[in-house]
Amino acid sequence: MGVTACGALCGRHRQLLLLLARGFCSGFRRFSAEGETHFGFQTVSEAEKGEKVYQVFESVAKKYDVMNDSMSLGIHRLWKDILLHQMNPYPGTQLLDVAGGTGDIAFRFINYIRSQRERQVQQKLRSHQNLSWQEILKSYQEGEQKSLGGSHVVVCDINKEMLTVGKQKACHLGYSEGLSWVVGNAEELPFNDDKFDIYTIAFGIRNVTLIDQALKEAYRVLKPGGRFLCLEFSQVNNPLISRIYDLYSFQIIPVLGEIIAGDWKSYQYLVESIRRFPAQEEFKEMIEDTGFLKVEYRNVSSGIVAIHSGFKL
Ligand SMILES: C[S@@+](CC[C@H](N)C(=O)[O-])C[C@H]1O[C@@H](n2cnc3c(N)ncnc32)[C@H](O)[C@@H]1O
Repeated sequence: MGVTACGALCGRHRQLLLLLARGFCSGFRRFSAEGETHFGFQTVSEAEKGEKVYQVFESVAKKYDVMNDSMSLGIHRLWKDILLHQMNPYPGTQLLDVAGGTGDIAFRFINYIRSQRERQVQQKLRSHQNLSWQEILKSYQEGEQKSLGGSHVVVCDINKEMLTVGKQKACHLGYSEGLSWVVGNAEELPFNDDKFDIYTIAFGIRNVTLIDQALKEAYRVLKPGGRFLCLEFSQVNNPLISRIYDLYSFQIIPVLGEIIAGDWKSYQYLVESIRRFPAQEEFKEMIEDTGFLKVEYRNVSSGIVAIHSGFKL
């Protein structure tokens, strides 16, 4: 068979796979056999999925950040910034970032709180017109000492290797105050009830085997009034962008994975897992079913990602 014919067949094959994945995605989720789930496009046992996901992130940990930048052309940074703006945390906020990996959300949270604190100090100084130079200096020093105003972020992830890379990054970038790292499973969080003001999970929930269970845990550890925020790949709502995105995902991303990280399979899983994750409305219903109120979502980049938000009221 000539190269062109083979390419056409492979292309049609892939399209068929995509259609199958899309069409039956929610069906599989609701009607898969007891104890079975999916790992990308494969059907596996629940125990197997946990192990396989662990292996993926163990394998990609060291190259995770560089791959994130190359695959998304840096756009993941923008998506994470948008999440932080939506969160709009205040000094004193207690954040739990689940599936926090190498700490991107945590570092953004700390930066955000620091800038809020700086603004507070400046506002205070502006409102007192006749301060001496010593008084101004003292205010700045106090502001620096309590630069996070009691805020704290816990990065929780099931994968030790991802956390190790995150801790090294924190050390290198100078983040230490108000930050801790905990190994833990989103389905069984090692925290007391009603502990956090905000729970975030960014690009993590689609990797979790029992999503309903993870949502219940999110609800349990949030304080009444607390907020759930999830940033995740979702369903593209523009047909043209959708076609380009599919082409990019299936043809380019695994190749990049092979070239940069020597790991085709992990990046193939990444692309497939995105297609298997429930679409915006279905995921919204799942969050509501957990008991969260005022649940809403916003699409970003034509739905390539969506941010779901809900409150424990
Ligand atoms: C794609 S990374 C996202 C990392 C980080 N949140 C970010 O946005 O860069 C997915 C993370 O989910 C973690 N993960 C997968 N299953 C998990 C589970 N059941 N509980 C906690 N973390 C999990 C993986 O170890 C990995 O670090």
